[in-house]
Amino acid sequence: EKHEKLQQLKDSGVIAVVRRPPFEQAVHIADALVAGGVQALEITIDTDRALELITLLKDRYQDRVLVGAGTVLNAEVAVTAIEAGADFIFSPILDEETVKVTIRANCISIPGVMTPTEIVKGYQYGADMLKIFPGSSLGVNYIKELSAPLGHIPMMPTGGVTLDNVGKFIKAGAVAVGLGGSLIDKKAVEEKQYDVITARSQQFIQEIHKA
Ligand code: 3PG
Repeated sequence: EKHEKLQQLKDSGVIAVVRRPPFEQAVHIADALVAGGVQALEITIDTDRALELITLLKDRYQDRVLVGAGTVLNAEVAVTAIEAGADFIFSPILDEETVKVTIRANCISIPGVMTPTEIVKGYQYGADMLKIFPGSSLGVNYIKELSAPLGHIPMMPTGGVTLDNVGKFIKAGAVAVGLGGSLIDKKAVEEKQYDVITARSQQFIQEIHKA
């Protein structure tokens, strides 16, 4: 089952990072992303009623969409998110215990790393994919150069990924990307223009499949 979920994540190519939406808008934003073809939603744990949202969204989409917890900084938080129904645990940092409890629960682990040493350490701990963070600060060439010696390790650059650079990241060897602000447009959320979020999702997915 985990194997299928990982495949779904790779096929989708995108994790949408839903960070601190107003609670009453969260489902509308999620629906807009899913309507645009996004198959993996991350609710950051600093979101108001984050655990409740994870449970609610998992129930809403069932197996059609992966729902995970983001900005998970320690094992205790990972456990509560997994109990709430999270399919994956996403983090900006690499914490060994967090990776290990996640894997033990048969849940997808995607810790955040920057250096080649951290990438290999995370993989050795059992992580399924590595979030290369902050993605655009490190850059497309960073991913390209890493993929020569470390191409066997699935990498997902996150942070500052845009419509302009997403295709380049995929071509450079990224298996997927995490998308926050450039996908969930702040103005669109403020103005409740959910169709803008759907259109943006479609554009990103098109760019990824073209690459
Ligand atoms: C985040 O910190 O919310 C994620 O890394 C996404 O970053 P982005 O908004 O730059 O895509």
